[in-house]
Amino acid sequence: MSNPLSETEGQQQDARQYWDERAASFDEEPDHGLRDPGTLEAWTQLIRTWLPPTPISILDVGCGTGSLSVVLARLGHTVTGIDLSPAMISCAETKAAAAGQWITFHVMDAALPAFAPGQFDMLVCRHLLWALPNLAQVLRRWAELLKPCGCLLLIEGFWNTGGGLHAAEIVEVFPPSLTNIVVHDLSAQSAYWGKVVGDERYLIIAYLRP
Ligand SMILES: C[S@@+](CC[C@H](N)C(=O)[O-])C[C@H]1O[C@@H](n2cnc3c(N)ncnc32)[C@H](O)[C@@H]1O
Repeated sequence: MSNPLSETEGQQQDARQYWDERAASFDEEPDHGLRDPGTLEAWTQLIRTWLPPTPISILDVGCGTGSLSVVLARLGHTVTGIDLSPAMISCAETKAAAAGQWITFHVMDAALPAFAPGQFDMLVCRHLLWALPNLAQVLRRWAELLKPCGCLLLIEGFWNTGGGLHAAEIVEVFPPSLTNIVVHDLSAQSAYWGKVVGDERYLIIAYLRP
């Protein structure tokens, strides 16, 4: 029987194959690979804004090739990255090793992360939530992984391809356990994307009630 939180086995196999085939070229997009020093700096400053100065434990959900995982680890935090695609995880491991960062990576379904509740100070997810089924249930499950006062940091968009989610669609299904929700626009700053963009791109941060 399939789990109602997750995709069916067939959907998951299709998604895994799709991302496995794209792993080798994924970092060619400026915001994916963060290869340009200006783009890397922009994302580092953005992420740093929402992080405490002291080390915390962070789960990077759907970490892809690990670009943000490495940014987070370089800022001194303890990072775990999960992704459905073994090829993405392999790229992430190579990237972390090249950057001299110790990061734990697992091939794992983001909709059903196999961690005990209350383990992480922060969950970060960039550009995956919109593609998962059962948004409200996924957000509830992710919130359960947070320590008291921990936070969920989402970077999503509603792109001119027609894909994605409006920020309001996410906020309206947040579980009541999350509070102090802030939506921060990211469309106006081309530094994040390596180009001027005209669609909706944003960061949402929310905190688990103590
Ligand atoms: C657009 S990429 C974003 C990668 C990374 N977060 C970033 O911003 O660079 C989406 C990622 O989600 C992963 N993914 C797709 N479905 C997933 C699932 N059900 N569980 C975990 N990862 C998934 C893909 O393999 C891919 O690496």
